[in-house]
Amino acid sequence: MTRVRGDRTRAWAALRGHYEAHGRALDLREAFARDPGRFQAFSLQAPEVFADLSKNLVDVATRRFLLELAAECGLEAQRDAMFAGRPINATEGRAVLHVALRAPRGQGPFGDEVHAVLERMLALAERVRDTARSGITDVVNIGIGGSDLGPAMVVPALDAYAHRGLRLHFVSNVDGHDIAPVLRGLDPARTLFIVASKTFTTQETMANAQVARAWFLAAGQGRGLGSADIARHFVAATTNVRAAADFGITETFGFWDWVGGRYSLWSAIGLPIAIAVGPANFRALLDGAHAMDRHFAEAPLAQNLPVQLGLLDVWYRNFHGFGSRSVAPYHQGLRRLPAYLQQLEMESNGKGVDLDGQPLAAASSPVVWGEPGTNGQHAYFQMLHQGTDVIPVEFILVKTPAHGGDELPPAVREALAGQHAKLLANGLAQSQALMQGKTAEEAARERPPTAAPGADPAAIARHRSFPGNRPSTTFVLDALTPRALGALIAMYEHRVFTSAAIWGLNAFDQWGVELGKALAGELLPRLASGDTAGLDASTAGLLARLRD
Ligand code: F6P
Repeated sequence: MTRVRGDRTRAWAALRGHYEAHGRALDLREAFARDPGRFQAFSLQAPEVFADLSKNLVDVATRRFLLELAAECGLEAQRDAMFAGRPINATEGRAVLHVALRAPRGQGPFGDEVHAVLERMLALAERVRDTARSGITDVVNIGIGGSDLGPAMVVPALDAYAHRGLRLHFVSNVDGHDIAPVLRGLDPARTLFIVASKTFTTQETMANAQVARAWFLAAGQGRGLGSADIARHFVAATTNVRAAADFGITETFGFWDWVGGRYSLWSAIGLPIAIAVGPANFRALLDGAHAMDRHFAEAPLAQNLPVQLGLLDVWYRNFHGFGSRSVAPYHQGLRRLPAYLQQLEMESNGKGVDLDGQPLAAASSPVVWGEPGTNGQHAYFQMLHQGTDVIPVEFILVKTPAHGGDELPPAVREALAGQHAKLLANGLAQSQALMQGKTAEEAARERPPTAAPGADPAAIARHRSFPGNRPSTTFVLDALTPRALGALIAMYEHRVFTSAAIWGLNAFDQWGVELGKALAGELLPRLASGDTAGLDASTAGLLARLRD
């Protein structure tokens, strides 16, 4: 397979020249004025996701050069190698096959294994959801990183589809302040714990699982529960079935080393999702992701949404030099999406060496961050509009809301519909404002009610002006259905794949988390003993201060 690092291609040099000649100075307002067809030309419909890319700092030539870059880097061959199950996670010698987890039976590799586990896990979900029989009211997922963030993001996103008699809790942090308040409200006889860990060795998860077991045995005493009941109240999602058995768990849902942690919500790690929304909705989530997989695998690169997004990320990071991207889902259910994307993108592409272990010459992953709209507007949007950094923003708008449930009185439903219109208007307005801006002259014509009396009007006008020409992408979903959410998440996965393929790095390992883990292991006994020998002065001083 031909694989060339982006910065070593002819297209990269051409992009550099294009950036200097046109890209840097591109003005979105002029681009729209010049080209009435710009919205159509720069928007794409992928399965379930419509994307307006027209408010980005690109023109037809940028797109052409970026496609040449993709071609020179062998993006299609790299993508095909992933789908074919080649060991593209070269540093760990593993295939990368999260796409197989959502392939219909008979259409993907490892289909028998995948569907056998899926069916078992959906059967468990069904049993738990039959609350009259199961007696379960609370499900606690204990996991961290990829074994937490996916389900913790999807469950609230699909709240409209959730079983109303079940509460889902997510415990991840080794900080006892995470698990303690959750346990406080639970009845052991009515609680199911899912210990979710690919390795079943992760310090945080093992510590929380031990606490949960100790609590179960202590609180269960008065309820006639003992260690023989652990097997009924604890299940595991893991590749390490033996370690789960050693813990006392007999019902284990396995997955495979070709499923990366941050790509694992489609596997047994999705069990809390299946319990919350039920088997049919879980299957619809998989279907949506599969539809996006087909789009990524088959659509021409010019109309391929994840590819266009990944190339745009390269353009912004390496040519414009933008260091971060803000994600603003205008849907409260997607409040955990930014955190989920932080792991997906930054753990995947936050690398400093290429696949051959050579230092990268070009910058890799941007910082990804954000909050749901409209909350973010009242917090950090000030900086997006007037700060000195340009930060591309990503808006996610959902056409039809799902909060007007039949159980609500009509007047309330009507009021909520009005709120949805306000939400959409705000999302649209923010991307418009970022692009449009406001000159000091325009600001000077206004009479700001809160300006200090006697202040210099010209200075106030400068304070009240907006540079504009700030880029954004807007995604539109018709509704936040399981299928649409599956497609949206898969779109992000393949976007990350695309930029990684151009940067020439391995998006599927995460050695960068090891050093801190190892040092924590060494410091733990020192916290007890007070031994600071050989530590740097700062760490020694802090350790002593914590023991005072
Ligand atoms: O933070 C490192 C990491 O390995 C993540 O990639 C992973 O999602 C998380 O820890 C949890 O790992 P496990 O599922 O093995 O407990």
